[in-house]
Amino acid sequence: MGRKRVGILISGRGSNMASLVDAAKQETCAYEIACVISNRPDAQGLQIAETAGIAAVALDHKALGTREALDAAIHDALLAHEAELVACAGFMRIMTSDFIAKWDGRMINIHPSLLPLFKGVNTHERALRAGVRVHGCSVHFISAELDAGAIIAQGVVKVMPGDDADTLAARVLPVEHRIYPAVLNALAEGRIGLENGRAVFSDNDAAGLSVLASG
Ligand code: GRF
Repeated sequence: MGRKRVGILISGRGSNMASLVDAAKQETCAYEIACVISNRPDAQGLQIAETAGIAAVALDHKALGTREALDAAIHDALLAHEAELVACAGFMRIMTSDFIAKWDGRMINIHPSLLPLFKGVNTHERALRAGVRVHGCSVHFISAELDAGAIIAQGVVKVMPGDDADTLAARVLPVEHRIYPAVLNALAEGRIGLENGRAVFSDNDAAGLSVLASG
């Protein structure tokens, strides 16, 4: 069976995208990168993709004007590059429900909190303010409601005394880089699915991709 083709959506730095690209270099990886698409032409991640020899698509959400126009352009680019799955990696635009429906069960995101806590932005600041003692990241299917799709796997880190948003983000990020390629690989292998709004798993390894980071 061929590798599943993945389109990655980014808006900025692209470190999660780079972790997905790196994992795809392994012979055993079940996916390959079809393209990287950014809604910001100046996204650092686009250069990383280009350097890696991956099709990099720069769209400008400001020039496109509406959410519908951006989503249509993204959808066209995904089809042009024959993407079968979509991985959002620091993609910072809210998508239309029409676009989301087209990729139902085939589009995932990584979010820097233990969902359903701290949906939206500034998650590390809000976790610290709330006084939680553990924090982390979640990989989930994308559904119409922001950051509320079925959770596939989570990575947990401790919150330490003296943490600020930067130190906490720096503790979560390596866990993101570990968990996201593993989930995408299992999705590409057909071991993770979406049924009635819940993630379903074909085996315990696919169900057990969550990580409790030590330290
Ligand atoms: C990551 O923390 C990701 O979880 C969130 O935005 C950040 C993007 O970082 N959605 P990068 O662009 O992947 O480096």
